[in-house]
Amino acid sequence: MRISLGFQPNPRQLEFFKARARHICYGGARGGGKSWAMRTKFILLALKYPGLRLLLLRRTLGELRQNHVLPLISSIGNIARYNSTNMEFNFPNGSMIKLGYCEAEKDINRYQGHEYDVIGMEEATHFTEEQMRFFTTCLRNIRTDFNPRMYYTCNPGGVGHAWVKRLFIDRQYMNKERAENYAFIPARVFDNYVLMSRNPDYVEALENLPEDMRRAHLYGDWDVYAGQFFPEFRRMIHVVEPFVIPGHWNVYRGIDYGLDMLACYWAAFDESGNGYIFREHCAPNVVVSDAARKIVDLSNELAICTYAPADLWGRSRDSGVAQAETFAQNGLPLTRVRNSRADSWMNLKEWIKPLGSGPKLKIFSTCRELIRCLPLLQHDEKNPCDCATQPHDITHAPDAVRYLLDGRPYLARVIQPHDEFDPPEYDDQVDAFLNYGH
Ligand SMILES: Nc1ncnc2c1ncn2[C@@H]1O[C@H](COP(=O)(O)OP(=O)(O)OP(=O)(O)O)[C@@H](O)[C@H]1O
Ligand SMILES: [Mg+2]
Repeated sequence: MRISLGFQPNPRQLEFFKARARHICYGGARGGGKSWAMRTKFILLALKYPGLRLLLLRRTLGELRQNHVLPLISSIGNIARYNSTNMEFNFPNGSMIKLGYCEAEKDINRYQGHEYDVIGMEEATHFTEEQMRFFTTCLRNIRTDFNPRMYYTCNPGGVGHAWVKRLFIDRQYMNKERAENYAFIPARVFDNYVLMSRNPDYVEALENLPEDMRRAHLYGDWDVYAGQFFPEFRRMIHVVEPFVIPGHWNVYRGIDYGLDMLACYWAAFDESGNGYIFREHCAPNVVVSDAARKIVDLSNELAICTYAPADLWGRSRDSGVAQAETFAQNGLPLTRVRNSRADSWMNLKEWIKPLGSGPKLKIFSTCRELIRCLPLLQHDEKNPCDCATQPHDITHAPDAVRYLLDGRPYLARVIQPHDEFDPPEYDDQVDAFLNYGH
């Protein structure tokens, strides 16, 4: 039996249909046609591979019903039998699309022991990283004619913003994650000609959103979302390609140290008031002596000093030795900065504020951890002048940079061009003395 898809996929949807990576994400602007593409791809796969098991997830049951159960019944109700108790569509060829949701953290228990060839996470940024990791364990790897896959659709923002951005936008991989397993297709509302022709006011509604929401929902900008502490941060203006730092610029370092993570940044300051963060070193589980030596080893240039937070001067209850002392004993004397958190963040905000000539602080593209973390910081719920300390792992890099700037680094001295007509200060006076009276 032939079924009708209704309409043709747009070029981005087609890319999504053709992608073959293990993890495929179609994300970005609202209304691009992501949910339609996910549903349609599921139907195509179920029909092509007999006996395929597919799981389509949304965070809540209500969203699932509205967004998928009803549209699926209307498009394939005549070819697949819907079992409303189990929320399953059973195809004559033995394939099955199960619809699932995961409202509370414990809801994942309902999927314990389940195995699927394909799992789709709709609005993936509404899921936590733990939930995503759990579902990847439900992917089965036993068919010879099909490699199991995860599909994700999403908009920027939400509890899952950070993990989606890390895997698909920043493309930073840990442990056994491999870059070639992750494919990203950017969604744009302008690609969805069906929506644009049926509902031309939709784009206007997105255009009228406040700046940060407009950037996220209309342009699918992953560096911005509601609640963000640094909405002014933009890769296009803050990130620069590396260049050789001129020898007369002043170089400083800033560190944040904890056994969970050492973060160290090097910055150079020119004579016009600009700072350039040009090197980073972030590493977990490094003891103080090794951290100090590593930072010294990595420094090719003379740094004026290394700014660090006051808590490194707290004495250990056991040994009575402060971590700052151990740093100094291992070749890295530290300079203490004291600033309230709010003042310190405000200072950093001043540095990254976009001006007509660009922001004062720029970051080399090689400082990837800082570029990843800065846009992820969120406002503290109780104190709007402070930023949230959770998720903790994204705070180390920005903390180290704000300590560096709390130290109020000096700018480079203006080099005076040598003036040939400037009379020498001493020689002519000696001459005048010798010639005196002649
Ligand atoms: N290729 C297509 N053919 C027919 N209709 C389509 C197509 N693509 C999208 N649509 C329709 O356009 C509308 C918006 O699409 P959809 O809901 O999939 O967008 P979305 O990206 O998931 O939006 P949101 O960001 O709000 O979740 C829906 O009515 C959908 O059915
Ligand atoms: Mg959708």
